[in-house]
Amino acid sequence: MQNITTLTHLFIEQAREIYDAEVQQLEVIKEILPKINSPELKQLVTHHIDQIKLQKERLEKVFAEEDELSSGEQNQVMAALIKELIEIMNRSADSKVRDAGLIGSLQQIKHFEMAAYGTLCAFAKTLKKIEEANALHHNLEEEKGMDAQLSHLARNTINKEALSTLIL
Ligand SMILES: [Fe+2]
Repeated sequence: MQNITTLTHLFIEQAREIYDAEVQQLEVIKEILPKINSPELKQLVTHHIDQIKLQKERLEKVFAEEDELSSGEQNQVMAALIKELIEIMNRSADSKVRDAGLIGSLQQIKHFEMAAYGTLCAFAKTLKKIEEANALHHNLEEEKGMDAQLSHLARNTINKEALSTLIL
């Protein structure tokens, strides 16, 4: 693997990482959609699928010129977070408890993305890459918004429903 020598290089490397994270996530979230029990959570996750598509497109648009996003390498952090998400879903015997677990896993993913987009946004501003900074900031704000919506749904509905589950 090539050495990273400049801030621009580091910026591009990390943009590739988050781009791959979006690609991996899109695939998995589409797959788990039918396994969601709560109609509200299903609706929120469906909306998030559209957001992920847009986030991916925003990255493609601003990084398109030099074909910067195609590294072919997998984002290992996202791969591990997805592995955990699938394991929690597969091991949850009750559909309401599964929904609560899914929200937790999705929020771990959102927090990872918030950290990644926050760093990238700061790099873009330092490098005076205005278009990139705007796109990254847009994605960052969407991640924060989705995290808040997931928290709200968990607190008001999903966790309480999971609590009512009795395994005899
Ligand atoms: Fe995202």
